[in-house]
Amino acid sequence: MTKPTELDYATLGFSYTETPYNVRCHYREGSWGRLQISDDPYLPIHIASTALHYGQQAFEGLKAFRGKDGKVRIFRMDENARRLQRSAAYLEMAVPPMELFCSAVTEAVKNNIDYVPPYGSGGSLYIRPVLFGVGPTVGVRPSANYMLIVFVTPVGHYFRNGTRGIDVMVDRHHDRSGAFGTGAVKAGGNYASSLKSGIEAHKKGYDSVLYLDPTEHKYVDECGAANFFGIKNNTYVTPVSSSILPSITNMTLMTIAQDLGINVECRKIDFEGEIESFEECGACGTAAVIAPISSIYDPDNERHFTFKTIGDVTKLLYNTYHGIQSGELEDKHGWNTIVE
Ligand SMILES: Cc1ncc(COP(=O)(O)O)c(C=O)c1O
Repeated sequence: MTKPTELDYATLGFSYTETPYNVRCHYREGSWGRLQISDDPYLPIHIASTALHYGQQAFEGLKAFRGKDGKVRIFRMDENARRLQRSAAYLEMAVPPMELFCSAVTEAVKNNIDYVPPYGSGGSLYIRPVLFGVGPTVGVRPSANYMLIVFVTPVGHYFRNGTRGIDVMVDRHHDRSGAFGTGAVKAGGNYASSLKSGIEAHKKGYDSVLYLDPTEHKYVDECGAANFFGIKNNTYVTPVSSSILPSITNMTLMTIAQDLGINVECRKIDFEGEIESFEECGACGTAAVIAPISSIYDPDNERHFTFKTIGDVTKLLYNTYHGIQSGELEDKHGWNTIVE
């Protein structure tokens, strides 16, 4: 296992680095058990478990940051707990109570605290809670038993050129979810569906895919594993759609924008009718952070749109967001949980 002092955060990227401990909790016979701290990165799992066969699984992604003051802060843990609860309910899984989720996440961070990257390194500790059905069934039905696990891994930048701006490509030929399917919950199956279009976009030299709504392929949905926003006339515009994952980063940026006197509009964005009019565009998410979009390519119409990177509004939002996470700006909405 790589020692924390041996990690190079500048080149780490968004990849898996093993850390010493993970946290596990079993749900059996209708109730959750005690949290267990494990040093084993492997799990024994039943060959007929619903997670393996029917994708009865959902996950979360959140981060902990080391501040200038040396303290470690977990960002918006309660919102991630709520989203996992919604995912669990949609997929007919046992719903982890808020306190259980928060203790599991906090224990995972505390037990691996040396792996929280230093302040100023550009790195953070990515926290990955996963909930899945472990009970055996052959018929398509929910499992009786579940497991919640949480592991952590130190990460750097998600996109190679993240801070300079990313190039994205519209894909009207693949959808990550159906219009009224699992797009709005964080089910692993959505990510399996997105692999093909992601790989194809990468092969063509693009950083990410811009998905349009799965019914008409007319309105902007989201940008790979991140929500989309556009800025014009001092207004932050972000799509409303039944098939996008409600991003906690996006929710945070909307609040920050309002605090800074920037207007916020949540509404449909007609790709062909409106995209050109944005002064700035970006992709936002826990992993992606706030990646300004430099260009969008629409292969079906052979059109190329370019945007300011990094524009003034995106920069202001980024600096405020980062300042709150690192403890340099006041956390007036109570988004951080200080671990130690
Ligand atoms: C499909 C998708 N959309 C948006 C996001 C951004 O969500 P959040 O800001 O909560 O990380 C993610 C990442 O979790 C994602 O996977």
